[in-house]
Amino acid sequence: MIRLGINIDHVATIRNARGEDHPNILKAAKFVMKNGADLITIHLREDRRHIKDIDLKILSKFKSIPINLEMAGNNRMLKIALNSNPKYVCIVPEKREELTTEGGLNLKKNNKTLKKIVKTLNNKKIRTSLFINPNLNDIKLSKEIGAKCIELHTGSISRKVRSKKNIEKELKKIISSCNLANSLGLEVHAGHGLDYKSARILSKIKLIKEFNIGHFIVGESFFLGLPSVINKFKKICK
Ligand code: PXP
Repeated sequence: MIRLGINIDHVATIRNARGEDHPNILKAAKFVMKNGADLITIHLREDRRHIKDIDLKILSKFKSIPINLEMAGNNRMLKIALNSNPKYVCIVPEKREELTTEGGLNLKKNNKTLKKIVKTLNNKKIRTSLFINPNLNDIKLSKEIGAKCIELHTGSISRKVRSKKNIEKELKKIISSCNLANSLGLEVHAGHGLDYKSARILSKIKLIKEFNIGHFIVGESFFLGLPSVINKFKKICK
Protein backbone atom coordinates (compact mmCIF):
# COMPACT_ATOMS: atom_id res chain seq x y z
CA MET A 1 0.00 0.00 0.00
CA ILE A 2 1.44 3.35 -1.05
CA ARG A 3 0.92 6.11 1.53
CA LEU A 4 -1.24 8.94 0.25
CA GLY A 5 -0.14 12.45 1.14
CA ILE A 6 -2.74 15.03 0.24
CA ASN A 7 -1.53 18.51 -0.52
CA ILE A 8 -4.11 21.07 0.68
CA ASP A 9 -2.36 24.19 -0.64
CA HIS A 10 -5.22 24.91 -3.01
CA VAL A 11 -7.80 24.84 -0.25
CA ALA A 12 -5.82 27.83 1.00
CA THR A 13 -5.78 29.31 -2.52
CA ILE A 14 -9.58 29.31 -2.54
CA ARG A 15 -9.76 30.68 1.00
CA ASN A 16 -7.33 33.48 0.14
CA ALA A 17 -9.47 34.55 -2.83
CA ARG A 18 -11.84 36.13 -0.29
CA GLY A 19 -9.33 36.95 2.44
CA GLU A 20 -11.45 35.38 5.15
CA ASP A 21 -11.42 31.91 6.69
CA HIS A 22 -13.52 29.74 4.42
CA PRO A 23 -12.74 27.00 3.53
CA ASN A 24 -10.96 26.53 6.85
CA ILE A 25 -7.57 24.79 6.61
CA LEU A 26 -7.75 22.89 9.88
CA LYS A 27 -11.20 21.60 8.98
CA ALA A 28 -9.88 20.55 5.56
CA ALA A 29 -6.89 18.75 7.08
CA LYS A 30 -9.06 16.88 9.58
CA PHE A 31 -11.57 16.04 6.86
CA VAL A 32 -9.03 14.56 4.45
CA MET A 33 -7.39 12.59 7.29
CA LYS A 34 -10.80 11.21 8.28
CA ASN A 35 -11.38 10.22 4.67
CA GLY A 36 -8.22 8.23 4.24
CA ALA A 37 -5.19 10.49 3.75
CA ASP A 38 -2.04 9.20 5.42
CA LEU A 39 -0.47 12.61 5.75
CA ILE A 40 -1.13 16.26 4.95
CA THR A 41 1.29 18.09 2.70
CA ILE A 42 1.58 21.87 2.77
CA HIS A 43 4.02 24.15 0.98
CA LEU A 44 4.86 27.31 2.87
CA ARG A 45 6.09 29.35 -0.07
CA GLU A 46 8.32 32.36 0.21
CA ASP A 47 5.54 34.60 -1.15
CA ARG A 48 2.90 32.89 1.09
CA ARG A 49 0.57 32.72 -1.89
CA HIS A 50 -1.51 29.91 -0.35
CA ILE A 51 -0.46 28.38 2.98
CA LYS A 52 0.36 31.05 5.60
CA ASP A 53 2.50 30.89 8.73
CA ILE A 54 -0.62 30.87 10.88
CA ASP A 55 -1.88 27.74 9.06
CA LEU A 56 1.32 25.89 9.88
CA LYS A 57 1.12 27.10 13.48
CA ILE A 58 -2.46 25.89 13.90
CA LEU A 59 -1.95 22.54 12.13
CA SER A 60 1.21 21.86 14.14
CA LYS A 61 -0.78 21.84 17.37
CA PHE A 62 -2.57 18.69 16.25
CA LYS A 63 -0.20 15.77 16.58
CA SER A 64 -2.90 13.51 15.08
CA ILE A 65 -2.32 15.35 11.77
CA PRO A 66 1.02 14.20 10.30
CA ILE A 67 2.36 17.24 8.48
CA ASN A 68 4.73 17.03 5.56
CA LEU A 69 6.12 20.55 5.28
CA GLU A 70 7.41 21.42 1.82
CA MET A 71 9.90 24.23 2.08
CA ALA A 72 12.78 25.90 0.31
CA GLY A 73 16.23 24.86 1.52
CA ASN A 74 17.35 27.96 3.38
CA ASN A 75 18.01 28.96 6.97
CA ARG A 76 14.86 31.07 7.25
CA MET A 77 12.69 28.08 6.44
CA LEU A 78 14.78 25.79 8.60
CA LYS A 79 14.06 28.03 11.58
CA ILE A 80 10.33 27.86 10.86
CA ALA A 81 10.50 24.07 10.55
CA LEU A 82 12.33 23.73 13.83
CA ASN A 83 9.75 25.92 15.57
CA SER A 84 6.76 24.04 14.19
CA ASN A 85 8.34 20.57 14.40
CA PRO A 86 6.44 18.82 11.57
CA LYS A 87 6.65 15.05 11.30
CA TYR A 88 8.13 15.30 7.81
CA VAL A 89 9.91 17.87 5.69
CA CYS A 90 10.35 17.86 1.93
CA ILE A 91 12.92 20.32 0.65
CA VAL A 92 11.93 21.82 -2.69
CA PRO A 93 13.42 24.38 -5.07
CA GLU A 94 11.56 27.64 -5.19
CA LYS A 95 11.34 30.46 -7.67
CA ARG A 96 9.06 33.33 -6.84
CA GLU A 97 7.67 33.80 -10.33
CA GLU A 98 6.87 30.13 -11.08
CA LEU A 99 3.26 28.90 -11.11
CA THR A 100 4.26 25.69 -9.38
CA THR A 101 7.45 23.80 -8.48
CA GLU A 102 8.77 23.31 -11.97
CA GLY A 103 11.61 20.87 -11.40
CA GLY A 104 13.78 19.17 -8.83
CA LEU A 105 16.48 20.65 -6.60
CA ASN A 106 19.88 21.62 -7.93
CA LEU A 107 21.80 19.41 -5.53
CA LYS A 108 25.22 20.27 -6.88
CA LYS A 109 24.83 24.01 -6.50
CA ASN A 110 23.17 23.83 -3.08
CA ASN A 111 25.14 20.90 -1.75
CA LYS A 112 26.68 22.56 1.30
CA THR A 113 23.53 24.30 2.51
CA LEU A 114 21.40 21.21 1.96
CA LYS A 115 23.84 19.04 3.89
CA LYS A 116 23.62 21.37 6.89
CA ILE A 117 19.83 21.61 6.76
CA VAL A 118 19.31 17.87 6.34
CA LYS A 119 21.72 17.13 9.17
CA THR A 120 19.86 19.48 11.50
CA LEU A 121 16.48 17.96 10.59
CA ASN A 122 17.85 14.41 10.90
CA ASN A 123 19.12 15.25 14.38
CA LYS A 124 15.62 16.46 15.29
CA LYS A 125 14.22 13.15 13.98
CA ILE A 126 12.20 14.93 11.29
CA ARG A 127 12.03 12.62 8.27
CA THR A 128 13.43 14.66 5.42
CA SER A 129 13.10 14.12 1.71
CA LEU A 130 14.66 15.96 -1.21
CA PHE A 131 12.48 16.79 -4.20
CA ILE A 132 14.57 15.81 -7.21
CA ASN A 133 14.31 15.02 -10.88
CA PRO A 134 14.44 11.31 -11.66
CA ASN A 135 18.10 10.93 -12.57
CA LEU A 136 20.84 8.73 -11.18
CA ASN A 137 23.25 11.50 -10.36
CA ASP A 138 20.73 13.24 -8.14
CA ILE A 139 19.98 9.98 -6.35
CA LYS A 140 23.67 9.55 -5.54
CA LEU A 141 23.94 13.17 -4.42
CA SER A 142 20.83 12.82 -2.22
CA LYS A 143 22.50 9.95 -0.42
CA GLU A 144 25.69 11.94 -0.07
CA ILE A 145 23.74 14.91 1.36
CA GLY A 146 22.33 12.62 4.04
CA ALA A 147 18.61 12.51 3.16
CA LYS A 148 16.60 9.49 4.24
CA CYS A 149 14.06 9.85 1.42
CA ILE A 150 13.74 11.33 -2.02
CA GLU A 151 10.62 12.54 -3.78
CA LEU A 152 10.78 12.13 -7.54
CA HIS A 153 9.32 15.01 -9.55
CA THR A 154 6.68 13.37 -11.72
CA GLY A 155 5.63 16.50 -13.62
CA SER A 156 7.16 15.36 -16.87
CA ILE A 157 5.63 11.87 -17.01
CA SER A 158 2.26 13.21 -15.79
CA ARG A 159 2.16 15.76 -18.60
CA LYS A 160 3.00 13.07 -21.13
CA VAL A 161 0.27 10.78 -19.80
CA ARG A 162 -2.27 13.63 -20.01
CA SER A 163 -1.34 14.45 -23.58
CA LYS A 164 -1.21 10.76 -24.52
CA LYS A 165 2.47 10.89 -25.51
CA ASN A 166 4.92 8.02 -25.28
CA ILE A 167 6.05 7.63 -21.66
CA GLU A 168 8.54 4.79 -22.13
CA LYS A 169 11.65 6.95 -21.67
CA GLU A 170 10.28 8.80 -18.62
CA LEU A 171 9.12 5.58 -17.03
CA LYS A 172 12.53 3.99 -17.51
CA LYS A 173 14.17 6.98 -15.81
CA ILE A 174 11.80 6.69 -12.87
CA ILE A 175 12.28 2.94 -12.52
CA SER A 176 16.08 3.12 -12.65
CA SER A 177 15.98 6.00 -10.13
CA CYS A 178 13.83 3.89 -7.80
CA ASN A 179 16.19 0.93 -8.12
CA LEU A 180 19.29 2.95 -7.37
CA ALA A 181 17.62 4.80 -4.48
CA ASN A 182 16.49 1.51 -2.99
CA SER A 183 19.97 0.00 -3.27
CA LEU A 184 21.34 3.04 -1.41
CA GLY A 185 18.72 2.74 1.33
CA LEU A 186 16.69 5.79 0.30
CA GLU A 187 12.91 5.62 0.55
CA VAL A 188 11.20 6.75 -2.66
CA HIS A 189 8.22 9.11 -2.86
CA ALA A 190 6.63 10.60 -5.96
CA GLY A 191 4.65 13.72 -6.66
CA HIS A 192 3.67 16.55 -8.94
CA GLY A 193 0.98 16.68 -11.56
CA LEU A 194 -0.39 13.24 -10.70
CA ASP A 195 -3.94 12.29 -11.63
CA TYR A 196 -5.74 8.93 -11.66
CA LYS A 197 -4.02 7.73 -14.81
CA SER A 198 -0.43 8.67 -13.98
CA ALA A 199 -0.82 7.53 -10.36
CA ARG A 200 -2.14 4.18 -11.58
CA ILE A 201 0.90 3.73 -13.86
CA LEU A 202 3.35 4.63 -11.10
CA SER A 203 1.55 2.52 -8.50
CA LYS A 204 2.91 -0.54 -10.32
CA ILE A 205 6.42 0.42 -9.18
CA LYS A 206 6.64 -1.33 -5.84
CA LEU A 207 9.58 0.76 -4.63
CA ILE A 208 7.46 3.92 -4.49
CA LYS A 209 6.23 4.21 -0.92
CA GLU A 210 4.39 7.53 -0.95
CA PHE A 211 2.48 9.79 -3.30
CA ASN A 212 1.94 13.48 -2.67
CA ILE A 213 -0.96 14.82 -4.69
CA GLY A 214 -2.67 18.19 -4.54
CA HIS A 215 -3.95 20.10 -7.52
CA PHE A 216 -5.86 17.24 -9.16
CA ILE A 217 -7.48 16.12 -5.92
CA VAL A 218 -8.76 19.60 -5.06
CA GLY A 219 -9.88 20.25 -8.65
CA GLU A 220 -11.57 16.89 -9.13
CA SER A 221 -13.40 17.30 -5.83
CA PHE A 222 -15.52 20.03 -7.42
CA PHE A 223 -17.14 17.28 -9.44
CA LEU A 224 -17.06 14.21 -7.20
CA GLY A 225 -16.51 15.51 -3.69
CA LEU A 226 -13.35 14.93 -1.63
CA PRO A 227 -14.32 11.55 -0.09
CA SER A 228 -14.98 9.94 -3.50
CA VAL A 229 -11.78 11.32 -5.01
CA ILE A 230 -9.69 10.19 -2.03
CA ASN A 231 -11.34 6.81 -2.19
CA LYS A 232 -10.41 6.43 -5.86
CA PHE A 233 -6.78 7.26 -5.06
CA LYS A 234 -6.75 4.87 -2.10
CA LYS A 235 -7.78 2.09 -4.48
CA ILE A 236 -4.95 3.06 -6.84
CA CYS A 237 -2.50 3.04 -3.90
CA LYS A 238 -3.41 -0.54 -2.95
N1 PXP B 1 5.21 17.14 -4.17
C1 PXP B 1 5.91 18.29 -4.14
C2 PXP B 1 7.30 18.26 -3.60
C3 PXP B 1 5.33 19.51 -4.60
O1 PXP B 1 6.06 20.63 -4.57
C4 PXP B 1 4.01 19.50 -5.05
C5 PXP B 1 3.37 20.79 -5.49
O2 PXP B 1 3.31 21.67 -4.42
C6 PXP B 1 3.31 18.29 -5.03
C7 PXP B 1 3.94 17.11 -4.62
C8 PXP B 1 1.88 18.20 -5.48
O3 PXP B 1 1.78 18.50 -6.82
P1 PXP B 1 0.34 18.65 -7.48
O4 PXP B 1 -0.34 19.77 -6.78
O5 PXP B 1 0.63 18.93 -8.91
O6 PXP B 1 -0.37 17.35 -7.27
